[in-house]
Amino acid sequence: MFTANAIDGLSKTEFYEELSRQLRGLLEGERDPVANAANTSALLYQLMPGLNWAGFYFLKGGELVLGPFQGKPACVRIAVGRGVCGAAVARRRTVLVPDVHAFPGHIACDADSRSELVVPLCRGETVVGVIDLDSPLPGRFDTDDQAGIEAVAGLYLAASD
Ligand code: SME
Repeated sequence: MFTANAIDGLSKTEFYEELSRQLRGLLEGERDPVANAANTSALLYQLMPGLNWAGFYFLKGGELVLGPFQGKPACVRIAVGRGVCGAAVARRRTVLVPDVHAFPGHIACDADSRSELVVPLCRGETVVGVIDLDSPLPGRFDTDDQAGIEAVAGLYLAASD
């Protein structure tokens, strides 16, 4: 039985080191991509303060399809290039949005969302999906969060088929 340990009173760098340590333990010995995405979502949602959604979309048949997540029910299919998630796939890089109302084409799955961080999952040159984090707080994510979640994406990919 895995128990997530609360992370309080640390710098962001220390926070993400500890989060990554717990994630490695959580994913160890399992390579199923759906199971690992489900547990990664749960760990992110449980440990990161100020989130209202944390989850995965996977590229299938040329569009993003909803994967495991924590939070309110979300839109199931997103075309490449649409919304923040589709932009991250089209650009093959992380998209950090401090104010979703200022991002043209943002898809509001939850009207409470105010800021968003989307990290592409890249196997070599191929994007296989994204990790998407939403927050009801404006400016919740900064470049330290970006680096931390990019590390999480790398751990997820290395641990999963
Ligand atoms: N806001 C995202 C859509 C996915 S939900 O936030 C879960 C977007 O604009 O791509």
